[in-house]
Amino acid sequence: MKPIRKGCALRRPCLGTLVVAASLTCAACADEQATTMADAQNAAQVRSGKLVYEQRCASCHGADLKGQPDWRSKLPSGRMPAPPHDDSGHTWHHADDILFGITKFGVAPHYAPPGYQSDMPAFGSTLTDQQIWDALAYIKSRWSPRARDAQAQIQKQRGK
Ligand code: HEC
Repeated sequence: MKPIRKGCALRRPCLGTLVVAASLTCAACADEQATTMADAQNAAQVRSGKLVYEQRCASCHGADLKGQPDWRSKLPSGRMPAPPHDDSGHTWHHADDILFGITKFGVAPHYAPPGYQSDMPAFGSTLTDQQIWDALAYIKSRWSPRARDAQAQIQKQRGK
């Protein structure tokens, strides 16, 4: 170690340490950015997402992504059934950040009017952001190329 740095950590954080710490932080955030998206072409992400989907989403949205029967009509409770996540539903009408927000926060404001009652759980405290993105990547991987292209256009128009 160069004499100039010797012992500096004892007195105060030396510049070298700070620079290293800062670059580690940036490396971590770059990593995070690389994965905070739902990439249907990323086979590893789709594989992880399939597990999340099977364990946490399939009970309502269906193992085959077909949703609950007669999903356009209200349940006796007055709430909406779980819609399909395949081409036959409207999941692909929404940009990724909205799908992410709904999954994390539930169908609550600002994704629904105040007071709206929904059976869609908020997964923010039970799934990591990464798991949510992975589940969405799996869902997207099940869309036809046509639905995927259409959603990509919607995404582009939002500029996200
Ligand atoms: C307990 C049942 C249940 C579970 C489990 C569940 N959902 Fe839902 N989900 C619903 C219902 C019901 C709706 C429709 C809500 C409404 O319109 O009030 C919905 C709606 C959605 C929507 C909006 C769909 C659209 O086309 O607008 C998304 C996205 C979604 N769910 C994702 C997920 C994901 C991802 C998981 C798993 C991590 C999941 N859901 C697990 C019940 C569930």
